[in-house]
Amino acid sequence: SRGVRRREDGSVEVAGVDVHDLVAEHGTPVYVLDEADFRARARGYRTAFETAFRAVGSDVDVYYAGKALLTVAVARWAREEGLRVDTASGGELAVALRAGVPGAEIGLHGNNKSDAEIGRALDEGVGRIIVDSLVEVERVARLAGERGVVAPVMVRVTTGVHAGGHEYISTAHEDQKFGLSIAAPRGTEGGPAGDSPAMAALLDVVVRPELHLLGIHSHIGSQILDPSGFEVAARAVLELRAELAARTGVLVDEVDIGGGYGIAYLPGEVALDPERVAKDVAAAVDAAAAELGTPLPRFSIEPGRAIVGPAGLTLYTVGTVKPVTLDDGRVRTYVSVDGGMSDNIRPALYEAQYHAEVVGRASDAEPVLARVVGKHCESGDIVVHEVRLPGDVRAGDLLAVPATGAYGRSMASNYNMLTRPPVVAVRDGASRVLVRRETVEDLLALDEG
Ligand code: LLP
Repeated sequence: SRGVRRREDGSVEVAGVDVHDLVAEHGTPVYVLDEADFRARARGYRTAFETAFRAVGSDVDVYYAGKALLTVAVARWAREEGLRVDTASGGELAVALRAGVPGAEIGLHGNNKSDAEIGRALDEGVGRIIVDSLVEVERVARLAGERGVVAPVMVRVTTGVHAGGHEYISTAHEDQKFGLSIAAPRGTEGGPAGDSPAMAALLDVVVRPELHLLGIHSHIGSQILDPSGFEVAARAVLELRAELAARTGVLVDEVDIGGGYGIAYLPGEVALDPERVAKDVAAAVDAAAAELGTPLPRFSIEPGRAIVGPAGLTLYTVGTVKPVTLDDGRVRTYVSVDGGMSDNIRPALYEAQYHAEVVGRASDAEPVLARVVGKHCESGDIVVHEVRLPGDVRAGDLLAVPATGAYGRSMASNYNMLTRPPVVAVRDGASRVLVRRETVEDLLALDEG
């Protein structure tokens, strides 16, 4: 019993649990997570990539990107489905460790990791620390040296490929904080002036006895629906790897091509197909390795959204309904719910599009043009920009917003002192709280007066 089902009477169940029961037990707003769906997507990505890369004589590790949503149970599910866990802070690392994920199966990211975060990673035997600057190469080496251990590191590079949505762009020089560019700075004569930042970092790692250079990492963007960016970036990384081998004799074992696999947010949208992207990228790297005369490395990927996004939905209760007449004479019905930008900042931050449906009852009323808004003191506090809802939508109705599993709870805030909603897992007709609802007392406990 995976997924959402609408019964004839209009009521809706998620993984066999009636939304009325969910709401009676857990209240609204509530993040609902379909465990079987999460597990199936995790397996789906692992199987698709393993199959495609093994077919060209390589192999793949799949790291679940915990930034999308990380709770102790979620980390366990990922591990049980054969995934590793990618963390981006000491906090995420702590959750993965609490879940019993072995350090060796955890990666640590971040463009400004603290000594404490790196130290904990080293003490827990984290499998890879992805370094993002020359300063950090030095920092990780110092902390490893103090402990008498050798730190396994990957160097995060930028290939100039930026993807997201349907397009990707490719530029030589990077103007953003992540990674080290593979493009060499131009000299006064127009030619390259020395090594690229990426090459400089790789060379620096190679010579330090406190560091072991595991490989090269590239993440090109998020919500990507066109797989060609992955192919271009992966090829560029293989070229860099071959160049490093030619200069130093060190042919690194691993290449990570990052996360970013796009999902469907709206009815009718089509998600990136993991089998297709895996096949395309495997074929591209196979051809590139043959051209370069280097054997294929082991690969890894870091999907977050694609695993947890579609597995989650948010349930809200409608509080007020207000028709507003627009300049062109149309009427827009503002439907206010009991949450908003504090539980889903994505519409306000990225103009992200979502869908909403009245669940819990059937309606024959003509649909109206509606905008679902939250309860915050901010006009940009929008949950769904535009959606058709039954014309009799009213206070007390339950609204479901699908595909909110990724970057909803993980980017939630306490704006206006709202308490963050619980994360409730549903499976085989039963629900279980993974993260309880925050209370005002929780928030007041932080206030020293
Ligand atoms: N690996 C690295 C190094 C990343 O930076 C990211 C995302 C991922 C993996 C996972 O990407 P995913 O597969 O989930 O797209 N808050 C934004 C997304 C920011 C993603 C940042 N990095 C959003 O809500 O759309």
